[in-house]
Amino acid sequence: MSVHAEQKPWTVPALAEAKRQGRRLAMLTAYDAGFARVLDANGIDLVLVGDSLGMVVQGHGSTLPVTVADMAYHTAAVARVLKRALLVSDLPFQSDATPERALDASMALLQAGAQMVKLEGAGHKLDVVRFLAARDIPVCSHLGLTPQSVLKLGGFKVQGREEKAAAQLLADARAAVEAGASLLVLECVPTPLAQKITAAVSVPTIGIGAGPHCDGQVLVLHDFLGLDSGHRRPRFVKDFLAEGGSVAGAVSAYADAVRDGSFPDAAHAYA
Ligand code: KIV
Repeated sequence: MSVHAEQKPWTVPALAEAKRQGRRLAMLTAYDAGFARVLDANGIDLVLVGDSLGMVVQGHGSTLPVTVADMAYHTAAVARVLKRALLVSDLPFQSDATPERALDASMALLQAGAQMVKLEGAGHKLDVVRFLAARDIPVCSHLGLTPQSVLKLGGFKVQGREEKAAAQLLADARAAVEAGASLLVLECVPTPLAQKITAAVSVPTIGIGAGPHCDGQVLVLHDFLGLDSGHRRPRFVKDFLAEGGSVAGAVSAYADAVRDGSFPDAAHAYA
């Protein structure tokens, strides 16, 4: 039996407690039961059914075509097998455009087995976070590079490099927590800014291309396994399969590296 199998199932309040105790959180994406089982048995604390499935599973060039029905289908497959990891599921493109739409979409994902929904951005999305949190729906806010805004951003680029943009991101992070977010994902943010945000908020920050000072890390499963997912591999991605020797070994090596702070190093972060 895996050494991790004995550990208690994660809950939303336990995440904030982990931050208080300085325990780092290891998160990976999964889209099906087979991989979810391996992640759950090998030390992963949070599993994300990301709308990245539009790119790595469905073969699209962005996450925009993904629907709530797609997300619910994959969420249900993952939820059936998780015993320990907390399941977060993405609200896909424009399903969170208004609080009411977001409530309907969140219900579909929670009824499929998600324990938290993730939504991208701040601005008008803060009202959505507040609306959902007030209705006891745990919310993760995704800030920095928000892939659903790829058309407006003109590509997948590091965010918050200029002083004004950095100040805005810090303000957005504080506002998201104030609105009720229980978790923050920070994507493609310079290391010093992610460190500042992590110190400024009471909830855990999970970085992806945001340096080593976040309270946890997340990677897209296909990137982490070194699979060609049809897009340029970002700087922050590390192929853990090469190191781990098997999928279970790779997951375990990643969870250990996140927890002991050795991943990400400077070569897998933006200064
Ligand atoms: O959709 C996804 O997989 C994500 C991660 C990149 C954080 O949002």
